[in-house]
Amino acid sequence: MASPTHHVVDIHTHMYPPAYIELLESRNSIPLIRKFAGADEPRLIILPAEAESLDKTTTTTPNDPASSTSSSPHLPGRPVTSHYSSLKQKLHFMDTHQIDISVISLANPWLDFIPSEDAGETAKSINQEFSHMCGQAPGRLFFFATLPLTAPPETLLAAVGHIRSLKYCRGVILGTSGLGKGLDDPALVPVFRALGANKLTVFLHPHYGLPSEVWGPRATDEYGHVLPLALGFPMETTIAVARMYLAGVFEQAPELRLILAHSGGTLPFLAGRIESCVVHDGQLVREGKAGPGSGRRTLWQVLKEQIYLDAVVYSEVGLKAAVEASGVDRLMFGTDHPFFPPLGSDEQGEWESVTWNAEAVRKALGEGSEGARAVMGGNAFEILRLHEEDAAGADAKVI
Ligand code: URA
Ligand code: ZN
Repeated sequence: MASPTHHVVDIHTHMYPPAYIELLESRNSIPLIRKFAGADEPRLIILPAEAESLDKTTTTTPNDPASSTSSSPHLPGRPVTSHYSSLKQKLHFMDTHQIDISVISLANPWLDFIPSEDAGETAKSINQEFSHMCGQAPGRLFFFATLPLTAPPETLLAAVGHIRSLKYCRGVILGTSGLGKGLDDPALVPVFRALGANKLTVFLHPHYGLPSEVWGPRATDEYGHVLPLALGFPMETTIAVARMYLAGVFEQAPELRLILAHSGGTLPFLAGRIESCVVHDGQLVREGKAGPGSGRRTLWQVLKEQIYLDAVVYSEVGLKAAVEASGVDRLMFGTDHPFFPPLGSDEQGEWESVTWNAEAVRKALGEGSEGARAVMGGNAFEILRLHEEDAAGADAKVI
């Protein structure tokens, strides 16, 4: 076997297991999967920004596709191909792109919409399904589990205990809504502590974007998904982490480790401005939260001590900022598969969205360099302990 530093590891790669697909097919409001007349494949409609175009489209239930009609030139969402749910397809994608190991995670919006009373059991079965999938290709697949955030607090904490026991689990994927009040909610601190104590890394991923009014009246009909995905997603991540920082979550849960999707949104670029705003904020200084004697760690320090970034930023410029912000030893390659497939060309071949990210690593750090190898896989191998099968190793802590 090649040395770990030569492994290519994809830490940002999603799946919807078949049971989750069925769940989405059974729904009438977003998130959902629906068939439309004239479209070969059912479509996945998950983003809040897509709700409006869904409303404009006359549809029927998935069971009655024959009578579906579309009154809109643009079908909402995106086709749900086998890339979303098939393990065979995931492995083929990995082979095509020379990816040795993938750390798979449920894609957004996870279990955010599940009624409270069902959330615990749904999380349990989805997480078991992920563990089972990983067992189909041992050594090649690990996963980030999903939390039942809508469940009562005791169920949520119990879920951390369950996740910790699952083979191949390395952490949890988490959106920014938390228990409904964001990630700076004090009620989440015990969950963050439990995750940290059990070495379950949080993969923080956006879903909700920004309110659709900010995109203006032409967005839905004319601009596709560009504004919510390119700008809404990264701003959502940036805002969530800035709020956690301001609330002192990183001090209250010092063992917490977060991987931020899309190279931290805009944090590497904006951390300096956030710092300046903190230092110059009269209220924070008066309250002793900033300024001399506050003992506050800077956002730059937190980025280097508790935060990792993925390398899903598609450009050398963005990647260099991420390297500067987090350190080359805290950046990890990802693909965002099965999102951003090649349009109009063979989905079984190479994906440009993947090659752009790999190329950015080569350009920013140098082809074949130690840094490039670390980002492409060595870092993930160490940080997520991909040489171990169980989750928290001998250090697992009782919650
Ligand atoms: N679109 C999504 O909804 N999720 C992703 O992860 C990427 C694109
Ligand atoms: Zn993603």
